[in-house]
Amino acid sequence: MVLKGRLKLIYDMIPDCDILADIGTDHALLPACALLNQRCRKAIACDVKTGPLERAIRTVKKYNLEDRMEIRLGNGLDAIRDNEADVVIMAGMGGILITRLIQESISKAMAAKCLILQPMTNQELVRPFLWKNGFEINDERLVREGDKLYQVIRTGYTGNVRKNWEKIDEIIGEKLVENGDPLLGEWLQNHIKRQQKIVAGMKQAGAGRDDTQFLQEEKLLEDLTNLLNLMGG
Ligand SMILES: C[S@@+](CC[C@H](N)C(=O)[O-])C[C@H]1O[C@@H](n2cnc3c(N)ncnc32)[C@H](O)[C@@H]1O
Repeated sequence: MVLKGRLKLIYDMIPDCDILADIGTDHALLPACALLNQRCRKAIACDVKTGPLERAIRTVKKYNLEDRMEIRLGNGLDAIRDNEADVVIMAGMGGILITRLIQESISKAMAAKCLILQPMTNQELVRPFLWKNGFEINDERLVREGDKLYQVIRTGYTGNVRKNWEKIDEIIGEKLVENGDPLLGEWLQNHIKRQQKIVAGMKQAGAGRDDTQFLQEEKLLEDLTNLLNLMGG
């Protein structure tokens, strides 16, 4: 099995582990690939809907993984037992859903050695949620698939609750900067364009220098632009 683009990056970020749980698995390609390459000993592919699980079952059969992959129906981390999975993947879902599912079963998320999160939307909510709840982001990477960029976050619970960060850290991801991610310039340009529209829209609506929200949005635009310039972009 050869994974490409977004799924390939998620797969690349899975550490060697014992039991891998894939929450919102759909086709179960990620756990199948992890099993086929001995990245994990056992996998649990979970989904809240039966349709996706039928696709997961087809993958299990196709690759003869019946004795190493379990398919489970359930909401979020409810589908796994306490301390059962050492690595948990939550990919291809929105950031709001991902953070809600972690919050609802926070002790299971804390017990995992590592969580691999790939939010499709509202990614800027994920980082502050993790910091406030004692999770540390230990790796983050970008990938292009089609004309879109996707980010993957690898995190784990340490108990250290972070208190301070800048708005830009919620949006860009410090590990991308630290690692000099090859797609960071493009990622920044996309966010700068979005932020320019927000600032222009607020100006047009009459926001001025006495408006705190407007000043915050302007500062974010300036920080994004400065970071891009610092990178020589
Ligand atoms: C777009 S698919 C992503 C599939 C795969 N993880 C990927 O990244 O390609 C999202 C999957 O999440 C599942 N899902 C949505 N809400 C869920 C929940 N509360 N618990 C478990 N799975 C859920 C959906 O049924 C769907 O199969």
